[in-house]
Amino acid sequence: MRALSHIISVLLLLLSSSDGTLASPTLNHELETRQSTPTIIRYCNPATSICYLEYSWGPSVPVFRVAIPDTASSGTQFDTLLQVIAPSTLGWVGFSWRGRMTLNPLTVVWPNGNTGVTVSSRWANARTQPTLYPQATYRILSASRNATHWTVETVCSGCSTWSDGALNPSGSQSFAWAVSRTAVPQPANTASSFSVHDNYGVFSGSMSLAKVPKAAFDAYVRGGR
Ligand code: HEM
Ligand SMILES: *[C@@H]1O[C@H](CO)[C@@H](O)[C@H](O)[C@H]1NC(C)=O
Repeated sequence: MRALSHIISVLLLLLSSSDGTLASPTLNHELETRQSTPTIIRYCNPATSICYLEYSWGPSVPVFRVAIPDTASSGTQFDTLLQVIAPSTLGWVGFSWRGRMTLNPLTVVWPNGNTGVTVSSRWANARTQPTLYPQATYRILSASRNATHWTVETVCSGCSTWSDGALNPSGSQSFAWAVSRTAVPQPANTASSFSVHDNYGVFSGSMSLAKVPKAAFDAYVRGGR
């Protein structure tokens, strides 16, 4: 039985590598009943009625949720909503708005203090430490931390277009993520350095899953302002 479950684990590992997502080196595949592929759904928060494109891949990868206004058109400036629910073992989490490390806006988030999360706007011209990217600005709608997770929801102004590209609100959109187990050296500083990822993944989903009626979207991201 042990040998058989080991063979199945190895097959799952191979499957998970073939969709462009690296398996985390520390996952214990003997013990963890992780799905071989990630799940992408439309998730609606019953408390707020805001719906998101939701990406999840078992307990050791963060859950990512993205929402955009349903009036968004490609190449124009519109706000984008990002929610990250990260296992507390992670020191930082990165999100890429066009599915690769370089030449697209990166949102990098890490826990700060007992309840806070820092959101840092970044850009990478090469696969080295991304630099600050002031063209995109963020407002944190909520952040929290408990024994098992830290979470943040933030609205980005400037993630819908960049120097040579734009989100595609009317079709399939690529995104990517990266995670590290190493805490950042200056958690309160949005310009903190951070170490390279231990794991990353690329996925794409239909942006129809991410659309929220414009009025509801605006009211939510304005958050009472
Ligand atoms: C100190 C910061 C970082 C360093 C030094 C770094 C370095 C690298 C390197 C060397 C690769 C090549 C593949 C490999 O051999 O692993 C890579 C790939 C990748 N990195 Fe980073 N990285 C950093 C931060 C980030 C951040 C913040 C993100 C945000 C999502 C990210 C996303 C990716 C992705 C998606 C790939 C896959 C290949 C690609 O699409 O370009 N990285 N990174
Ligand atoms: C901790 O936070 C996560 C993410 O928000 C949540 O799913 C979980 O229920 C929380 N745990 C407790 C014990 O409140």
